[in-house]
Amino acid sequence: MPRIYLSPPDISERDHAAVAAVLNSNWVAPVGPALDHFEAAVAARAKRAHAVALNSGTAALHLALQILGVGPGDTVICPTLTFAASANPICYLGAEPVFVDCERRTWNLDPDRLREALKAHPNAKAVVVVHLYGQCAEMDAIEALCREFAVPIVEDAAEALGASYQGRPAGSMGTLSFFSFNGNKIITTSGGGMLLSDDVDLIARARYLGAQAREPVRHYEHKAIGYNYRLSNVLAGLGQSQLEDLDRRIAARRAHFEAYQSALDGLAGIRFMPIADPDAPNYWLTCLTLHPEFSACSRDDLIDALEAVAIEARPIWKPLHLQPVFAGRRTFGGEVAEDLFNRGLCLPSGSSLTADERQRVIDLVESSVQSKVV
Ligand SMILES: Cc1ncc(COP(=O)(O)O)c(C=O)c1O
Repeated sequence: MPRIYLSPPDISERDHAAVAAVLNSNWVAPVGPALDHFEAAVAARAKRAHAVALNSGTAALHLALQILGVGPGDTVICPTLTFAASANPICYLGAEPVFVDCERRTWNLDPDRLREALKAHPNAKAVVVVHLYGQCAEMDAIEALCREFAVPIVEDAAEALGASYQGRPAGSMGTLSFFSFNGNKIITTSGGGMLLSDDVDLIARARYLGAQAREPVRHYEHKAIGYNYRLSNVLAGLGQSQLEDLDRRIAARRAHFEAYQSALDGLAGIRFMPIADPDAPNYWLTCLTLHPEFSACSRDDLIDALEAVAIEARPIWKPLHLQPVFAGRRTFGGEVAEDLFNRGLCLPSGSSLTADERQRVIDLVESSVQSKVV
């Protein structure tokens, strides 16, 4: 049986043709028409005025925080239930990450815990808000708090391109926002990201810093330390082609979630990640939790059983406050994230996953939990 991956790249003939067209144009550089086109198209999709394409989402967050003035000794608030890349750039700048637990409604930043964190750190330089697994955080409450404390939001929409929150696109919120086009994301440029804002000056600054901080004169003149963070024009061609397929990809991933849920929800204690509004997420990954009072099949038992038949599944993100590299960092709460990590996993969710492959996953999950019913 061919291996079933969690979220592999989905590359079409059109994508091949798009990359070939860029190569034929000879714009093989971190500038060019495909980049301009891709930036404008992603900004339009996210209802943002300005965007700059970069070589990763991590680079986008690094520039976002730097542009907001984050520096040594500053505090930046970040959810604990996320990938390490949501916090690493805080440390690149010598600032202190302060972690905040998630709520159970969407698995995102808990506004009550955020209030505690902001009260304790009223001079925080920024709040990073993540939309986990393609479902948006409770932005109304989070935005109200950040307004009250006058702290800017950086929206980590790495996993959420195409999702929305009460009609507002993911990536349209916060002072700055970013997407990732890493190989496992809903669209990919193999590696890539984009930083967005409605403030032209912020994006101009990011464009400048991300292109080696070169001054606009004939010779090479530098007044700031820059980075080599721009996306290649070749990869922008791939990104544009993938972006044109985004709605089909969301529909495919949603169909996986719905099929998994209708076959498995409630069975021997299986519960799916709660979805606040079914039309809002991009369904990047389907996630579930196991409840030991119904089945002795643990998260690791299930992942092992899937692996034994060449199906890739992964635990929910390990909370950052439990990561050795962040040991001792201040954390508000953390029990909810720990519980979701201990009992939660992600199922294969790629937009190229076939109905037959999905059924193989369903059958295996069903037999694994049923075989250990308590
Ligand atoms: C929540 C989150 N933030 C940030 C990133 C970083 O993006 P990249 O891999 O493009 O650097 C990722 C994904 O990789 C992510 O899932």
